[in-house]
Amino acid sequence: MEQVMKNFFLFMAKNKTLNRLAKKYGLALGASRFVAGATLDSALQVIHGLNAKGLMATMDHLGEFVYNEQEANDMADHCIAALEGMAREKLDCNLSLKLTSMGLDISKDLCLANMNRIMETAAALGIFVRIDMEDYAHLEDTLDIYKRLRQNYDNVGTVIQAYLYRSADDVQDLAQLKTNLRLVKGAYKESPEVAYPEKQDVDDNFKKLIRLQLENGCYAAVATHDEAIIDYTKQFVQKNNVPYDCFEFQMLYGIRSELQLRLVEEGYRVRVYVPYGNDWYGYFMRRLAERPANVAFVLKGMLKK
Ligand code: FDA
Repeated sequence: MEQVMKNFFLFMAKNKTLNRLAKKYGLALGASRFVAGATLDSALQVIHGLNAKGLMATMDHLGEFVYNEQEANDMADHCIAALEGMAREKLDCNLSLKLTSMGLDISKDLCLANMNRIMETAAALGIFVRIDMEDYAHLEDTLDIYKRLRQNYDNVGTVIQAYLYRSADDVQDLAQLKTNLRLVKGAYKESPEVAYPEKQDVDDNFKKLIRLQLENGCYAAVATHDEAIIDYTKQFVQKNNVPYDCFEFQMLYGIRSELQLRLVEEGYRVRVYVPYGNDWYGYFMRRLAERPANVAFVLKGMLKK
């Protein structure tokens, strides 16, 4: 049953009509539990609160299904405004973004031009930029654009998904560029031809990727709410004397907040992924897919109206 629900929400996440309706309707259905408001100002306020608790942040201006060049350029402008906002307010925060929202599906050149604009501002402000990893269809292009940007900038990194069979090879390949990697389980619906269908295999591969990345002496952002993976990381760094500034834990805004604070108290670097903006629909559906129990929040929200 859980798998059926998961597939349902991942299918819904790709529905363009519902995505358009959701943008018009505003933050609804309990999405505000996972999204830090519709505007940059609301996100900056949330991050002030997180920083005050010792949590670092990464900001993501939500955006999916970018249809034309103007929309892609607007999305890049939003990212630049976010960089300027976090610098102005002296926040302990960096930027996360998706290449499809920078125009990757329209043209690779457009996407690269937008990324170069963003990277120039980020480099001038001394802020790190993380390129999120999307579905398998975008993987090669994402890695290619990351590598091209890495030739000119050292404040850029990307994400590797443990559910893909090829990920250990990618981690080894990216180590040549001393890549700062966020490691995740993977949030999209992928075929068993490219991704492990069984959770246990994904978890085992996740641990392997953490080990490889740290053994390679590359920075690891271990992004998970899974305490078994977090405990594995803690044990690994202890056993291998990995300094605490060579890795961090990352979690999503609104999920396992008490665990985030506990890790800060234990002296670990913890970064919260803070999404904002009116294009919340796809992100919200993927969060429901991860944990169908979250649907209870949606139903409660609907009953209150
Ligand atoms: P798992 O799904 O096994 O969950 C472990 C436990 O965490 C659950 O039992 C539950 O207690 C809690 N939990 C997990 N998800 C929850 C939810 N939605 N609501 C409430 N509780 C929940 N993916 C991707 O493909 N590309 C990317 O770029 C990113 N980026 C990214 C950044 C950050 C900071 C995080 C934390 C995650 C991502 N992801 C991602 C998403 C990732 O691939 C994965 O889908 C989620 O993190 C859920 O997997 P967990 O590792 O948390 O484990």
